[in-house]
Amino acid sequence: MKMSKKSEIIALILTGVVCLFIFFNKNDTEDNVTLNSKDTYEMLRHQTDLLRSETPQPLFSQCQQNTSAYNVTGFSTLPGHIQDFLLYRHCRNFPMLLDQPDKCGGPLNSADVFLLLVIKSSPENYDRREVLRKTWAEERLYKGVWIRRVFIIGTTKTGYEKHRLNKLLRLENSENKDILQWDFNDSFFNLTLKQILFLEWMERWCPNARFLLNGDDDIFANTFNMVEYLQGQEDNDGGKHLFTGYLFQNTGPVRYSSSKYYIPVQVQESESYPPYCGGGGFLLSGFTARTIYKMSHSVILLPIDDVYMGMCLEKAGLKPTSHFGVRTIGMNVPGGDVDKFHPCYYREIILVHRFLPHMIFVMWNEIQNPHLQCGKTKSVFKRSL
Ligand SMILES: *[C@@H]1O[C@H](CO)[C@@H](O)[C@H](O)[C@H]1NC(C)=O
Ligand SMILES: *[C@@H]1O[C@H](CO)[C@@H](O)[C@H](O)[C@H]1NC(C)=O
Ligand SMILES: *[C@@H]1O[C@H](CO)[C@@H](O)[C@H](O)[C@H]1NC(C)=O
Ligand SMILES: *[C@@H]1O[C@H](CO)[C@@H](O)[C@H](O)[C@H]1NC(C)=O
Repeated sequence: MKMSKKSEIIALILTGVVCLFIFFNKNDTEDNVTLNSKDTYEMLRHQTDLLRSETPQPLFSQCQQNTSAYNVTGFSTLPGHIQDFLLYRHCRNFPMLLDQPDKCGGPLNSADVFLLLVIKSSPENYDRREVLRKTWAEERLYKGVWIRRVFIIGTTKTGYEKHRLNKLLRLENSENKDILQWDFNDSFFNLTLKQILFLEWMERWCPNARFLLNGDDDIFANTFNMVEYLQGQEDNDGGKHLFTGYLFQNTGPVRYSSSKYYIPVQVQESESYPPYCGGGGFLLSGFTARTIYKMSHSVILLPIDDVYMGMCLEKAGLKPTSHFGVRTIGMNVPGGDVDKFHPCYYREIILVHRFLPHMIFVMWNEIQNPHLQCGKTKSVFKRSL
């Protein structure tokens, strides 16, 4: 009798605890998610503050407009997204909605990640992410080293629509655990912000990842070749500089206001850009990623993310290099009669831009086909390099 009374009481207490738990979790809104990551962030922030004696910035109080921007010459004549950029150029702190602190097994174990795939995506691109998860971005052990994956995402839309998309993303993430999301407008002109937020995350949770692929969610990447190429860097295990991709040199801001890449003098006066690699996809070492992050603290934001990376490299006295296997402006196959989708080409390259999801799927399977005969086509391709 005594025992059953005791267990009754225990059962009652347990029920109470469960009810309380359900009560507090019932309201699983965005705010709760924000609060959780905010708490973690506050804690870490506090820890880092103890290490570095920086003046703490106010956290996530909505970043205020820089009203001096209205005084910039010709402000009212600038396109809306550029006005927006100037007003919020200084804002770099945004709350995290989805985090993956364990992606790299914690900061101390993060050297076990050989290649971290960092893929720029946006809330609506569910189908692209799904294909990548099943193809080149699959997390796996290859040639004895780990490939890991994160998608970096902001938010789109407002009000109910935004809430709905975020909810879907939460569901998608609970299954795949590969989404980093921050609460900022996921627009083209906010890509640099996205990159900086990622680098900040990396410093916190994955500082020793050896190499990274940074690219769009519509590329075809031959991650097998990538690992082999990176393992072939005999004197570099990720602790030295590496930044390679499709190299742009001697370029400058586009001054036509109709271009997607339009940068008026109000944003950048100088007519030249430093050398940089096209943002469709580039490879870099963990060392270089950390260096870029350090430099970013003192390099004013430029909305074109790949150029901005080039600016940070320049500031650190480092140079990006050209990799023949990175084709971010498409395949340039010699001779009109050659099939540009011939899988043999994709066995040789490491990265090609602009692939439709189904083509990624087909090509990924083709390049692994053991019966694929790549003889002459291979040499034709090599000669064209
Ligand atoms: C904008 O310019 C006006 C006139 O020169 C000046 O009075 C005002 O303080 C400026 N505003 C800001 C925010 O700099
Ligand atoms: C605000 O905007 C003005 C004009 O663009 C700029 O000179 C100033 O540096 C900006 N301030 C901050 C805090 O970013
Ligand atoms: C996000 O930015 C884009 C481009 O500037 C703009 O069209 C859109 O209205 C913005 N969305 C929100 C929710 O502010
Ligand atoms: C970037 O995101 C912030 C936060 O959502 C927003 O205020 C700003 O307008 C965005 N900037 C651009 C250029 O889209």
